[in-house]
Amino acid sequence: MTDSKPTIAVLGGTGDLGGGLAWQLVKAGYSVIIGSRTNEKGEAAARALSERAGGKTVQGMDNPGAATAAEIVVMTVPFSNQMPTLETVRDAVQGKIFVDATVPLVPPKVMRVQLPEGGSAGMIAQAYLGENVRVVSAFQNVAAAHLQADEGHFDDCDVLVTGNDADAREQVVQFAQAIGMKAWHAGSINNSVVAEALTSVLIFMNKKYKIAGAGIKITGEPQV
Ligand SMILES: NC(=O)c1ccc[n+]([C@@H]2O[C@H](COP(=O)([O-])OP(=O)(O)OC[C@H]3O[C@@H](n4cnc5c(N)ncnc54)[C@H](OP(=O)(O)O)[C@@H]3O)[C@@H](O)[C@H]2O)c1
Repeated sequence: MTDSKPTIAVLGGTGDLGGGLAWQLVKAGYSVIIGSRTNEKGEAAARALSERAGGKTVQGMDNPGAATAAEIVVMTVPFSNQMPTLETVRDAVQGKIFVDATVPLVPPKVMRVQLPEGGSAGMIAQAYLGENVRVVSAFQNVAAAHLQADEGHFDDCDVLVTGNDADAREQVVQFAQAIGMKAWHAGSINNSVVAEALTSVLIFMNKKYKIAGAGIKITGEPQV
């Protein structure tokens, strides 16, 4: 990665996780584009974020526009809308890094792991978008509230980053680190199954132990 920061689109950046991620990215000096199903909603969310960030420029547009204009595209939408969203941006993301944060929750039993037929949301995205798109899966185990806070609370929520292309994974590790998270290379996109499944476990534990947003922490000191 060069010294200059990539422009990052957050599809579904009008919502909880994407809005929090966008906020942290803007604070860290990234150019951020909020994507939405409608231009108007994207623009409104961008205006609000810009105001929160003391006037920093934030763009807002519809998802295909945002995906076209960005270098890295992050998608934060409910699993029920993963495929409809992928369909609208498939052409726009060719040749790019596409970060999928989708957790394949199937309401109402969100505390139970229910992995999809395609293996995982990340694997579904990679299969659908094709080999020309470097799909990376990340952020499933970070509660949106930690990202929405004025200063992110990331001490106890590491990020597992999976994907088939090591350089693409590294670029996601780098922007996650730039916003203060501890992010780890965690292998191929098939391994996204683990982070996606873990979210239902964390939701269960939040309820059982009254935790505001449980996360995971990897032990051990990297020697590389
Ligand atoms: N919330 C968390 O703490 C958290 C943590 C880790 C992972 N995740 C995962 O990240 C993804 C986004 O979660 P979220 O909590 O941010 O979701 P959310 O706030 O409910 O929705 C995010 C955005 O998705 C768009 N959207 C598209 N189709 C939708 C539909 N049928 N219903 C509702 N919204 C729809 C909406 O944007 P437009 O209307 O602007 O298009 C919405 O603002 C999910 O896959 C979730 O499992 C969430």
